[in-house]
Amino acid sequence: MITSAPDKIAPNLNDFDVMRVRQDFAILNTLVRGKPLVYLDNAATTQKPHQVLCAINQFYGCCNSNIHRGVHFLSEKATEQYEESRAQVKRFLNAASTTEIIFVRGATEGINLVAASYGRTFLKEGDEIIVSAMEHHANIVPWQILCQQTGAVLKVIPMDDNGDIVMEEYAQLLSERTRIVSVVHVSNVLGTLNPVKRIVQMAHDAGAVTLVDAAQSIMHMNVDVQDIGCDFLVFSGHKLFGPTGIGVLYGRESLLEMMPPYQSGGDMIKSVTFEKTIYNDLPYKFEAGTPNIGSTIGLGAAIAYVQSVNLDKAQPHEDALMAYATQRLEEIPGLKIVGTAKEKAGVISFVLDFAHPHDIGTIMDSEGIAIRTGHHCAQPTMQRFGIPATARASFAFYNTLEEVDVLVRGLEKVREVFA
Ligand code: ALA
Repeated sequence: MITSAPDKIAPNLNDFDVMRVRQDFAILNTLVRGKPLVYLDNAATTQKPHQVLCAINQFYGCCNSNIHRGVHFLSEKATEQYEESRAQVKRFLNAASTTEIIFVRGATEGINLVAASYGRTFLKEGDEIIVSAMEHHANIVPWQILCQQTGAVLKVIPMDDNGDIVMEEYAQLLSERTRIVSVVHVSNVLGTLNPVKRIVQMAHDAGAVTLVDAAQSIMHMNVDVQDIGCDFLVFSGHKLFGPTGIGVLYGRESLLEMMPPYQSGGDMIKSVTFEKTIYNDLPYKFEAGTPNIGSTIGLGAAIAYVQSVNLDKAQPHEDALMAYATQRLEEIPGLKIVGTAKEKAGVISFVLDFAHPHDIGTIMDSEGIAIRTGHHCAQPTMQRFGIPATARASFAFYNTLEEVDVLVRGLEKVREVFA
């Protein structure tokens, strides 16, 4: 993450070899409308390296079978690989145990699980849930529904004009009524890197449980649940160079033990009679039905890949990308960056005073540049900044400084058309 834009771009990018890494992503060689693809929509989803594609292919081609059910060879192989992915996630997040790793469809389902299971069981009228003003819809709507169901009240930590959480206001909101604090680690719109460790500590001091939405941070930095100290944490596989349809809910074992099942059916039970059902142990209590086995194995391969690339080594390269892009974009007359927090990761949102974000997106596409435009599933963030939409360039470790130059040239083209 960057802490401030340096005067000069450091040429020394550690021993991280971006051109070598790019060879793992064949899609990055695609021509779009006759131009080389410049993929800057990584906050929406990351591309998948061939190691992940091979792992998925290998599963369906050689081991396809249901898990936890058969005693036959293929079922045993599939179960082994599925559970190895869980062990990889456990090590990746530094969780205390694999019982704390629940496979879900994505970050959104993880938050819904906590809201439905923990929330409906333990919250009552007058209790309070705190989120920040920069949440995307998945960390707002499940809590609103929970409030409707229980009579709890949703409170919002304001942010300042840079897109930093106002910690003094947060401190004011915390009280003995606070039951849940759920905040995003890195904003998908502003790129703000939030001080989640401090936020969690303050919530715990007030007696609340905490959830960290790591959907955007997981691809940029090592996320350690024990270091952060959170009770729950969610992320999606597809934003970690893995497949769609798979994600992770980390939950503190003592809390997961107290929580009722979220969905029910096969695999989440120990025994069923028409009179009584005994639920399975963790983590299976929260994994009803046949799971997304292939994508779980793909996620394991994605984690192995990220570990081989080494996020610590990629960090200086990502910092240089962010610093260089920030500097080049700031040089464009009429361009305003939305989100200028002290610490940012991976995301630069901007508006132009001579073109609507959707027009920017269309012209960029004609140049082979993929960016996202719109409200980014975070309408309250747009409202906070008094704008309907932004254009957003978002980076992963396989992007290059040259691609930033292409982005800037694309914006010059927008100027030629609209200004
Ligand atoms: N929340 C994702 C994004 O920011 C989909 O694009």
